[in-house]
Amino acid sequence: MTYPSDLLKGQSALVTGGSSGIGEAIARYLAKAGAAVAINYNSSPEPAQKLADTIQTEGGRAIAVKANVSQEDDVKAMFSQVCQEFGTIDILINNSGIQKDAPFLDMTLEQWNQVIAVNLTGQFLCAREAAQEFLRRGIRPEISSAAGKIISISSVHEVIPWAGHVNYAASKGGVSLLMKSIAQELAPYNIRVNSIAPGAIKTAINRPAWETPEAEAELLKLIPYGRVGEVDDIAKAAVWLASDESDYVHGTTLFVDGGMTLYPEFAEGG
Ligand code: BGC
Repeated sequence: MTYPSDLLKGQSALVTGGSSGIGEAIARYLAKAGAAVAINYNSSPEPAQKLADTIQTEGGRAIAVKANVSQEDDVKAMFSQVCQEFGTIDILINNSGIQKDAPFLDMTLEQWNQVIAVNLTGQFLCAREAAQEFLRRGIRPEISSAAGKIISISSVHEVIPWAGHVNYAASKGGVSLLMKSIAQELAPYNIRVNSIAPGAIKTAINRPAWETPEAEAELLKLIPYGRVGEVDDIAKAAVWLASDESDYVHGTTLFVDGGMTLYPEFAEGG
């Protein structure tokens, strides 16, 4: 761990989809940087509770909170629970995301709706609740220069079209302008809003793309930096974006992708 353990001292964070993959790593890193962390899960409580217990054992503060981020009542109840437990929320990591892949011609409305509901509507609902809490509380200069921080976990597919995944790419394209529009609207209140766009990171969501040497070799053709990403790569960026170290960074997407967005196929073509 490279960040000081008091970087986020006195702050509390909510990580949606915080019990696995990128969300789990972000929750761990935020806790190590001194934040109290609420770990959101949707269906199975055990991994979220286990992570909360580990953080507590290591001297941090953490709780597990259930909510389906696409359901307004769930989201409102989750924010009430976290504010009751921690007093307030300073950092929202809008991370919950799913893929329901299908060729476009066969994609069902259900596959489309499920992905838009979690990846885009979920981010809207959580960002709105967070912003209301940030405004209610206002700035505490001894804690942070900002009234609050919203970090959207997007994807390289907010700019890279993705055949066979149009619901996912559309949701992430939506996240891009959702984030920027919120950033524009909330800047006067000193609420900082940014995105992280991960490239190919080793998690369960894309296991087939990296789990065999053959698959990994194919994937590496798309990654100029020559390695598949790890969840820690994203977590380190999230801690920085959540801290005052990035106080002048607002309304931007930080691509953490080993150069995937550099059109690597043009390195020797075009
Ligand atoms: C997707 C992964 C994919 C990566 C790069 C991510 O947003 O969830 O499945 O490997 O983008 O294409």
